[in-house]
Amino acid sequence: MAKKIIRVAPSLLAADFRFLDKEMKRVIKSRADWIHIDVMDGHFVPNISFAFPILEAIKDYMIFKDVHLMIDDPFKYIEKVIENNPDLITFHYEAVKSKSKIKKLINLIHDNGIPCGISIKPETSIDEVLPFIKDLDVVLVMSVNPGFGGQKFMDSAINKIKELRTIIDSNDYECLIEVDGGINKDTAKKVIDAGADVLVAGSYLFKSENMKEAIKELKK
Ligand code: DX5
Ligand code: ZN
Repeated sequence: MAKKIIRVAPSLLAADFRFLDKEMKRVIKSRADWIHIDVMDGHFVPNISFAFPILEAIKDYMIFKDVHLMIDDPFKYIEKVIENNPDLITFHYEAVKSKSKIKKLINLIHDNGIPCGISIKPETSIDEVLPFIKDLDVVLVMSVNPGFGGQKFMDSAINKIKELRTIIDSNDYECLIEVDGGINKDTAKKVIDAGADVLVAGSYLFKSENMKEAIKELKK
């Protein structure tokens, strides 16, 4: 059987923001598949990262831009996110109050020609995303509590990934499984074995001496 394609997405949160241009070029030169962009509002998560000025600053770099919205009421800001050339927008299941609003948001993102993902916190069951999965491009499984880089991987993500893999494969859904938080060469192996398609890694990649090698290491 052909080897499965694994995508790696360095998380910009761990970059050195004094040198944003240099860091973006480092990511691209390292052949990262995606760049993962964490937007936090200080409400949905107990931290604030960055938003529109940074999205705008990186909008023309030639790399797939994976925007992870950790914000309450994503509806309120979605148009401004869309203006900045995202290649994928993922919002949190827990941040949208009703099923009909979730459907509306998925449709709004898709109507703009942009793939859409839903992310779930560690305490949220995969059952919550199943009603939407056939329309989703990505399910993002958080393997840490969202808000900060550099946390320890939570093993509870493994079963979620396995269950999602079975559901996606047995129904021929096109949805990718992305994992975010605490990814290093040991945890990468575990999530790939469980069935993940996309690995987000912040600290591990940005702290590496050689990002290109570190990315290869994660895919092994
Ligand atoms: C956490 C963010 C992650 C974070 C991952 O809330 O969503 O994308 O940057 O960082 P590491 O890989 O250091 O756990
Ligand atoms: Zn993230």
